[in-house]
Amino acid sequence: MVWLVGIVLAFGLLVVSYKRKKRYLETPLRLQVRSWQRYGDAYIGLALEGQRGEQLPTWSAGSHIVLEIPGANGLSRRAYSLIGGGDRCYEIVMARKFRGKVSEPVLSDLQVGQPILALPPRGRFFKLAKNPAKMICLIGGGVGLAPLVPMVKEALAKGSSVQLIHAARYEAELIKSGELESLAQLNSRFIYTPILSQEPDPLPGRLRGRLTADILRTRGVQQFDGDVYLCGSTDFVRDITRMVRGNGCRGTIHAEAFAGNSDNLPFTIEAGGKKFRQGHAPTLLAALEENGILPFAECRTGQCLNCRVKVRSGRVTPLVAMERGPLPDGAVLACACVAASDITLDVPAKYGMTDRPIG
Ligand code: FES
Repeated sequence: MVWLVGIVLAFGLLVVSYKRKKRYLETPLRLQVRSWQRYGDAYIGLALEGQRGEQLPTWSAGSHIVLEIPGANGLSRRAYSLIGGGDRCYEIVMARKFRGKVSEPVLSDLQVGQPILALPPRGRFFKLAKNPAKMICLIGGGVGLAPLVPMVKEALAKGSSVQLIHAARYEAELIKSGELESLAQLNSRFIYTPILSQEPDPLPGRLRGRLTADILRTRGVQQFDGDVYLCGSTDFVRDITRMVRGNGCRGTIHAEAFAGNSDNLPFTIEAGGKKFRQGHAPTLLAALEENGILPFAECRTGQCLNCRVKVRSGRVTPLVAMERGPLPDGAVLACACVAASDITLDVPAKYGMTDRPIG
């Protein structure tokens, strides 16, 4: 009998702590723009601080925040990796060319002090092991560099040797290049390789052209048996994964795509009483969030199981990097798939819909 009471109590505690965590993660922080920096025409780096200069919730390498923008049809959300900051500031990078329902209102009239709502840092796009491999390799395409920068610092602090390859188009789009070059000069365990595909006259220390299997071979990827972390567009992640494997690399590949696949067709999605067409979204979750349907989401890497939605009709394609077996009751993880046809979804509370009143 005592054991039964123990089990009930333990279960009750679990439920209470889950609800508490969910409430915390779903309560937005009131931030404002502290400063910004342009990276060519493609990206803008934003430094965000609390509106009262207060201390902000802690974060770690690989964490992201989720910006919330109110609009005529309710809230839109979009996740951004933290590229830097501290206990009173979060730094993110926005792609200007993908101006969407979140980035457009933020960037159209950028001002110091501009208020921004953001859900607290959560999840880790990538999680460095407690004791990462002695040698790790990070490869970012464009703004996919963002989550990799704090990981470089964390891995170096843990004693790993780190190789970072950043593929961009122009010199001006090399995000945080000055900081990374200084880090490489100060630390013999860190190699930083920028590669520029369209810069007519690259500076010394840059490779010119597209990132190819041959270039990866010259960087020694074929001998690599530590962890490999890739972040970029879906196309970039798919292509580089093939090249890394094709070169005979034996390390574990961790991949995260931040932007849609050029093959993602604009299917009609019906959910939560709304109907919209959405293509080129990296995930079904991103498509829903842009359009004011807000499943509770924590990790965005297919691990926490919080973003479940039920497919009533239509098909989804699992993302290769996060493929997992079917969930009970016709549910899928919205962060781990894209629409493969017109679809109708159920997103009730039972399937993780946020229970915060959305105004
Ligand atoms: S948000 Fe964690 S599984 Fe989708």
